[in-house]
Amino acid sequence: MNHKFIGAVFVAIGMTPTTFADEATQANKDAFQLRCIACHAITCNKIGPRLGDLIGRTPGAVEDFSGYSDELKNSGIVWSEENLNIFLQDPNAFVPGTLMVSAGKIESQEERDNIIAFLKSGDDSLDLCF
Ligand code: HEC
Repeated sequence: MNHKFIGAVFVAIGMTPTTFADEATQANKDAFQLRCIACHAITCNKIGPRLGDLIGRTPGAVEDFSGYSDELKNSGIVWSEENLNIFLQDPNAFVPGTLMVSAGKIESQEERDNIIAFLKSGDDSLDLCF
């Protein structure tokens, strides 16, 4: 075995995890872009409230967002990965009367996982805040 070949093997092994991680990050971004970006950003309010630092937040906590429903504000939940997963599957079933109507209904567990991973990452590179 010559040295060049061994070098190539190490490069290939070294690259693989990075490539998988990049692909996963991209899938998370794509899911948020497809399903959420029309109404949400991470760092600014749109039709929906900004979603930065969401996990651990009380619903309705963004003070400069005026479009919350009383139903969401009074829902008594705290945003966690678990209840986000339920909310995104059917917002109106989890928080009856929420203004985030079925537009946010995400049927696929994989897609919900991708979106939640994106929200946890703190990535705000998709934001268009003026
Ligand atoms: C059609 C517009 C629309 C889409 C699409 C949408 N949302 Fe919303 N979202 C809203 C509105 C409006 C509210 C405020 C709801 C209320 O107060 O009842 C909201 C509220 C939320 C909240 C509660 C935030 C808080 O401060 O308590 C979360 C979490 C959320 N959206 C996540 C998402 C995610 C993740 C997606 C993509 C899967 C998404 N939304 C797609 C309009 C939308």
